[in-house]
Amino acid sequence: MNSLAIATTDFQTAGVVQHLPAFTVEAELPADVAAREALLDRAMGPGRKRKSSEKLRRGRRPAEGLALVARSAEGALLGTVRLWNVTLGAGGRPALLLGPLAVEPAVKSAGIGSALMRQAIAEAERLGHGAILLVGDEPYYSRFGFSAERTGTLAMPGPYERHRLLALELAGGTLDGACGIVTASGRKLRNERTHAA
Ligand SMILES: CC(C)(COP(=O)(O)OP(=O)(O)OC[C@H]1O[C@@H](n2cnc3c(N)ncnc32)[C@H](O)[C@@H]1OP(=O)(O)O)[C@@H](O)C(=O)NCCC(=O)NCCS
Repeated sequence: MNSLAIATTDFQTAGVVQHLPAFTVEAELPADVAAREALLDRAMGPGRKRKSSEKLRRGRRPAEGLALVARSAEGALLGTVRLWNVTLGAGGRPALLLGPLAVEPAVKSAGIGSALMRQAIAEAERLGHGAILLVGDEPYYSRFGFSAERTGTLAMPGPYERHRLLALELAGGTLDGACGIVTASGRKLRNERTHAA
């Protein structure tokens, strides 16, 4: 994967000069796990492990090549996103589930979330995946092409708000006729702590 380099920039909005952090988007390393989990706790709070998406991640490894981090020039973790292998309904059609996406609260609104999303989508497409699902806010994710238009016949394996189940088709036709419950299909963790994925 080519990392996406963003230079530090001073820019002016409404007369106020802001200093954007320099960061790169790159593959997550085993050494990033503790910092990633701490960032997720800070950004999302303790309830994050009760989400229905978490059921599809627990005990699994992320999809090959699709655990990304944003890193500062000094090496600090500024953001994280991972994608997971799932199948859609009884037909077993393969897709990806994205999440959690989180950015260090101190550097929100500096484009880090968008850079992680765009790199994740580009990598998923390059690796030949046909569609990405997620449970999240459409007002944020619609800018990357996600919508609830194609997910009405799909369901998460647990409580969730239907209008927040969103999808992005990467290969035309992947979601045609897809219906049923989203099921985990990724590689299982073995002899490792779950959070070490
Ligand atoms: C959501 C999140 C990842 C966005 O990261 P970010 O680096 O701040 O995002 P970007 O800089 O690319 O985009 C910021 C823009 O998105 C908007 N935005 C952020 N969250 C939003 C939401 N839930 N709904 C609508 N817009 C949202 C911001 O208002 C900002 O708008 P602006 O550019 O007009 O100022 C980050 O705010 C975060 O970690 N939130 C807590 C965890 C979370 O909710 N994750 C998503 C669920 S998996």
